[in-house]
Amino acid sequence: MIKAVRGTRDLLPPETALWNFVEEKVREVFRAYNFQEIRTPIFESTELFARGVGEETDIVSKEMYSWHDGESIVAGLIKGWLQANPTATAYRQSTGLMIMRYEPDFVAQLNDGLVVLDVKSRPSKAAVDSLHEYTQFLREHTTDRNAGPIRSILVFPSRANVPSSVQEESERLGVKLEPVEYEPSQSLTLRPENTAGTVRAYIEHKLWDRGLNKLYYIGPQFRRERPQKGRYRQFYQIGAEVIGPASAGSESPARDAEVLEMLATLLDRLGISDWTLELNSVGCPNDRAKFNEALRNALEPVKDKMCADCQRRAVTNPLRVFDCKVPEDQPIIETLPRISQFLDEGCRAHFEAVKAILTKVGVPFTLNDRLVRGLDYYTRTAFEFTHGALGAQNAILGGGRYDGLSEALGGPPAPGIGFAIGEDRLVLSLQQKAPAESVVRKPDAYIAPMAAMNGEAARLARELRRHDLVIELGDESFRLKKSFEAATKAGAKYILIVGENEVKADAFALKDLATGEQVSVARADLAAKIRGERKP
Ligand code: HAM
Repeated sequence: MIKAVRGTRDLLPPETALWNFVEEKVREVFRAYNFQEIRTPIFESTELFARGVGEETDIVSKEMYSWHDGESIVAGLIKGWLQANPTATAYRQSTGLMIMRYEPDFVAQLNDGLVVLDVKSRPSKAAVDSLHEYTQFLREHTTDRNAGPIRSILVFPSRANVPSSVQEESERLGVKLEPVEYEPSQSLTLRPENTAGTVRAYIEHKLWDRGLNKLYYIGPQFRRERPQKGRYRQFYQIGAEVIGPASAGSESPARDAEVLEMLATLLDRLGISDWTLELNSVGCPNDRAKFNEALRNALEPVKDKMCADCQRRAVTNPLRVFDCKVPEDQPIIETLPRISQFLDEGCRAHFEAVKAILTKVGVPFTLNDRLVRGLDYYTRTAFEFTHGALGAQNAILGGGRYDGLSEALGGPPAPGIGFAIGEDRLVLSLQQKAPAESVVRKPDAYIAPMAAMNGEAARLARELRRHDLVIELGDESFRLKKSFEAATKAGAKYILIVGENEVKADAFALKDLATGEQVSVARADLAAKIRGERKP
């Protein structure tokens, strides 16, 4: 039996009703705060995450699903050339050098060949050497040594790439140069998160023209973590990002507070009350440089007692030491300096303003100056909402400001703040309160057709469904007893019997499955009756 891959899972009914319930509520709340949806691709170039999330983070260094897509440049060139020259076949392959020749019956005496050189990755000297090697090889393997000068084709990604020394040498050797189109291979990655993709889209589509962008997304993310309850390799995030030029107000502490207040409102609306908002400021690059220096100094005498990851982080990116989960390292981490001691005046004032608004609007928070978040792009406000009932994986959502991310990805300055909710974890918390069945919309009626009545029953179902009723349609082959069983199993409120007499009278037997009450209702009145409306 083929099973779902470790760390992935099927979401089945009735549980999916809870997911829909969450997503509907989320869209409703986001709409009230004037957020609009963005959908970015599920895979992006690996470089985006390496530069955005950070090489030293656990996500990028250990957890990404990455692969090489497309052919190597050389293979791509040869394929392109072969498509353009369908009668040619591969003849010999040697390191970095491919030689082809036409089929003999195509051009009998011709000793044509192809050599593909990736000039971009080879200095021109190496390209000239290959050219000589190739010409030499052809000379040695020529079937008819008297066939005249060797005619060969040297293929480059484009004419512009051909260095002049190679150009001159090929002319001297009588080798023809020919450009070929190809799609170079690239490293791709299933998105482990959606902030980098959103900021990439912001830059690519020049979204700054729209001023302040308030965007949200709902979709799967992928991380190769050790699966456990609340932690999966394919998981779902509901996230939002506020990003734009500083002139549009993107840097204002009012944005941070609005996002946090929106999250508090959302969790309350979903019926999740016992959450804790943990809040910190991780400062700006200036503060970070000083903090990193202090951390490095503090780690120097103790790092040898720490885990291998921490020893590495202590040198490359000391901030990431705070991501360490190894229990033995925790007492050492407890003694390290905290970012709160290094905030400059601007960051301090920004943080104070965020806290003041939160207090004013009545959103409670707890300060946690160990909270640095596991992604490198954060600046200033950083936060997590935790929920006690979740156990070890208690972070229901996380987020923060990322004022330098756009620039790190080659875009213009564009301060931003956002968050992502772990939807799997949110649903887990909800399940403890409301079983999925409680949000499933059960059928309003089950239509039971008698013999030869499938057509009439389908017609009636079509009419009732137009009135936004949930109708389950039975089959004429069912005996009445079986129809009743099926209606009860489906959780229908009514069973509606469609027999020859009913069709003739244009009135149908409608039975309330809970009370047993049965009435005959005219076709025109059925929808209103099922909905529980009184007759006008
Ligand atoms: P993150 O903290 O890496 O932040 O993930 C956000 C949330 O996604 C976590 O709090 C957790 O609920 C959920 N999550 C993460 N990994 C897993 C997993 N393996 N299984 C189940 N749930 C998981 C981000 O992703 C940032 N992009 C958030 C953000 C948006 N920051 C600014 N804007």
